[in-house]
Order: sequence, then structure tokens, then C-alpha cells
Amino acid sequence: MLITPSSLTFPTPPERLFGRPGPLVLEVGFGDGRFLVHLGRAHPDWNLLGAEVSLGSVTRAFKRLRREGVRTARLYKGHGRFLVRNVIPRHGLHRVYVNFPDPWPRKRHHKNRLLQAGFFRLLSTRLEDGGALLLTTDHAEYFAFACDEARTTGLFDVAEGPPPPATLQTKYALKWQAERRPIYHAVFTKTAEAPDPYEPTLELCEMQHALLEGDLRAVPPLTKEVHRFPGGVVVLLEAYRDPAGDALLFLVLSEEEDLRQEMLVKAWPHRTPARPERGVAVALQRFGEPLTTRGAREAVRAVTEWLERQGLRRVETWF
Ligand SMILES: C[S@@+](CC[C@H](N)C(=O)[O-])C[C@H]1O[C@@H](n2cnc3c(N)ncnc32)[C@H](O)[C@@H]1O
Repeated sequence: MLITPSSLTFPTPPERLFGRPGPLVLEVGFGDGRFLVHLGRAHPDWNLLGAEVSLGSVTRAFKRLRREGVRTARLYKGHGRFLVRNVIPRHGLHRVYVNFPDPWPRKRHHKNRLLQAGFFRLLSTRLEDGGALLLTTDHAEYFAFACDEARTTGLFDVAEGPPPPATLQTKYALKWQAERRPIYHAVFTKTAEAPDPYEPTLELCEMQHALLEGDLRAVPPLTKEVHRFPGGVVVLLEAYRDPAGDALLFLVLSEEEDLRQEMLVKAWPHRTPARPERGVAVALQRFGEPLTTRGAREAVRAVTEWLERQGLRRVETWF
């Protein structure tokens, strides 16, 4: 029920995720998963895909779906736009639900809003003909913003109306109704398609490791470091020393377009016939199943360069 990165290709045929054909329906920001349970019960033939950035919510929704016996949902921990852009095939989506999205009310944070013109253009290429996004929100200003953004694309019909009853039963729906806030709803139906096919942006890199020469025991403690690269940033957060040997394990955060990954990069003594004494290897670890994106490659590069600055000598790199 949880989608692991290693189960994905870019795009991924939905049959591979669900083991059966069927209308593909996405919920972005599913919170505690209540609405997915409703959809699973009401539409047993639908293949349900959920995206949620909060790990706590993913865990709660996972347990709820299991408890309620809904087996037609697949959960992805991460940004909804990442799924739409990289995983969902062209014309693959029947419907998208967005219930009570984070409103990002401050003007300087509007760029973080999910529902803006760029997203609607991308979505027009992933929705089937006549496919639709359904928005329910308590936030009048975000609601007006999303409707305007969709209309400016010229690719969607926007129909405002009463929310479907089930969207009024989510955790946030109940919370806002208890405060007597008004609730807004619109259906954005695809009427045309953007000329740009919005190909997946994700590229996997095969090789990311390095060979160095030097003494890992002499390396000082790491203080947090930020490395920018075109399209993203990696942050060396912490380094841990293996008490049983000389190895170092680096915790690295990588942020690329709509993709945030924490990964481990290891540096360890690597004796070869050419370097019997002081060889050191640096490589990405499989722990956490990181996608081997440009960010993963940059994580290994950042660790390698940090070790060089601590006095190790670069012998060979593959990145
Ligand atoms: C206000 S809550 C609403 C949750 C649920 N839909 C409900 O009605 O109870 C918004 C949810 O969207 C999630 N979220 C925010 N941005 C997201 C994104 N780009 N992709 C996926 N989930 C996102 C948040 O973690 C949060 O759980």
C-alpha cells in the first residue's frame, strides 16, 4: 500500500502499482486518509493514489486504510506535483481531489500553493479527456486564486457549486465547520491540453561514488554545510563515526524540484592492491531506498569534496 521509490519508473504504468486496470484517482494532501477510505468504499473499481508530505499523516492513513480493509489505495509520501509530473502517464488520470489544501495566506508564500496556473497546465496533460480536479476549501482567497489561475490557462472549465457531502467529513472539514466557516467548492474540468507535454523531469544517475586516499581517523567533526547545484541543494547535516572501525556515515538532505530525500553516504577504508594502505571509498547507501537522482550524485560529490578539504586526496570519481 505504500509506494517505495524502487517500485517506480518515470512514468509508472498504473497497472504495475495496482495489479489491475481501472480509473486512476489521485488525492493530494490526504491527511489522516478518511476521504480515501470513503472513496475506496464508494468506488471499489477505482485505483486510488494518495500523495501526502507529512510522514505522521501517511502513517495514520496507512493504518486507517488497513483497519478499514481498503486495499485499492496506494500512498506516496511526498509532493503531489512530483507524482503528477514524474509518475502519472499522459492522460492517465481520471480525477484529482484536493480537500482543504494548505492556503499559504501570505503573499510572499503564494508560490508554495499547489493550485496555480503552472500546475493546471501540467495537469491538463495528465488528465484524461473530460477528467477533472475537485477542490474543497474553507479559504475564500485561495479559492478565488485557484479559480482565477485555472481560468487564465484556458484549459479548464471552472464550475463552482456545493461540495460533495463526503468532502465535508474530512478532519479539516469538521474542524472548520465547527467554527462555522463557509466552505467553497469547484470542479475544474479539462477542456483542452497544454501544448507542452511536460515530460517527467526526473533523471536517474547510474554512478555516484569516489575513491580517495588518506586517513579517515584524522578527519575532524563536520559542521553543517550547504551545497547548491543547478536545480537543487544538498545539505551535509551530520557525520557519524563507526565505533568498530574508521568508517564515517554522513546524513545528507537533498532537495530537488518537488523531491526531498534524506540519504546516507558512507566513507570507509577500501584497500585495493593499488592502494593497500590508505584507500577510502565514498558511496551512497541503499538505506531508505533513495532515488538515485542528480541530488544523490551531488550528495556523494559534497561528501567527497568535504573529505578533500580535510586532507584526503582524490584518486578517482564517478559522478
Ligand atoms: C489542511 S490539511 C488537510 C488534510 C485533509 N485533506 C483534510 O481535509 O482533513 C493539508 C494537508 O496537505 C498536505 N500537503 C501540503 N502540501 C502538499 C503537497 N504539495 N503534496 C502532498 N500533500 C501536501 C499537508 O501535509 C496536510 O496534511
